[in-house]
Amino acid sequence: MEAHETPALYGVLGYPASHSLSPAMHQAAFDHLGIRAGYHIFEVRPDELNAFLTDASARGISGFNVTIPYKEQIISLLDYVSPDARLVGAVNTVKVRSGRLEGFSTDGQGFIADLAARGVDPVKKKICVIGAGGASRSVCFSLAQSAPRELAVFNRDIRKAAHLVDHLREHFPSIAFRQADSVDALDIPGADILINATSVGMKSDDPQLVEERFFHEGLFVYDLVYAPARTKFLETAEGKGCRTANGLGMLLFQGMFSFEIWTGHKPPKEIMEAALNRAIAKA
Ligand code: ATR
Repeated sequence: MEAHETPALYGVLGYPASHSLSPAMHQAAFDHLGIRAGYHIFEVRPDELNAFLTDASARGISGFNVTIPYKEQIISLLDYVSPDARLVGAVNTVKVRSGRLEGFSTDGQGFIADLAARGVDPVKKKICVIGAGGASRSVCFSLAQSAPRELAVFNRDIRKAAHLVDHLREHFPSIAFRQADSVDALDIPGADILINATSVGMKSDDPQLVEERFFHEGLFVYDLVYAPARTKFLETAEGKGCRTANGLGMLLFQGMFSFEIWTGHKPPKEIMEAALNRAIAKA
């Protein structure tokens, strides 16, 4: 590397994006591996999005994460979109390669990797998912690829759950999907894995999503929310003897997959995890 070589430029594109934990995680990984790179927050207003994308390569940007509100709308603005990202309808990682913008989705992969790291295998399991937004879509499509016995989805807006289930059936005709019209209809007592893929629990006055009576020992409970680290949902589950996990592991693994797409380097897991933990403790 030449002494004056300009550092590579990475970041997270969003609006607002100031609360992201990604800068801490990725900067720690670059520094640890001795990669001259900076990871910044690209807070871009909707009316500036096109200009940002057009100028990204000329500005020397090598890659970026995509967060709220651009994960879906960016798809039509990229030069290439991976089959996974197209399936889910969302991009969270863009790599700039020879001036072309290439989009990928690492959220679902990150979720599955975190389950695996916890020794949880979705194969032949009965799984209940609450939520039908972007996060739920990523989780459901990656779970569908893991051959569960049944995947049941409940969402406050029932039409959104029905739409997601239809879409899943279309792409995975051999998997049993079910749309539940209530939490009760999910049949959590008969399930192996329960996932909160809504934003409920982020605020202290949020409602209790699932009544205590539904939790049972042997149920693995995952909350995609990671701030607070222990939501009412997880607290109640733990109280009933369930194994639980929050969404920090998914955040870590999706970041690791993004890092590998950008740099081709094996991401330093412990370094990124420690940086995430430090950043969240400060948040
Ligand atoms: P994300 O990208 O985090 O998935 P999203 O696409 O806006 O964000 O989806 C938010 C999810 O949280 C949705 O499933 C939403 O339910 P609706 O589709 O009915 O809006 C769910 N959600 C948010 N607030 C909720 C609440 N108070 N009660 C139940 N579900 C809620």
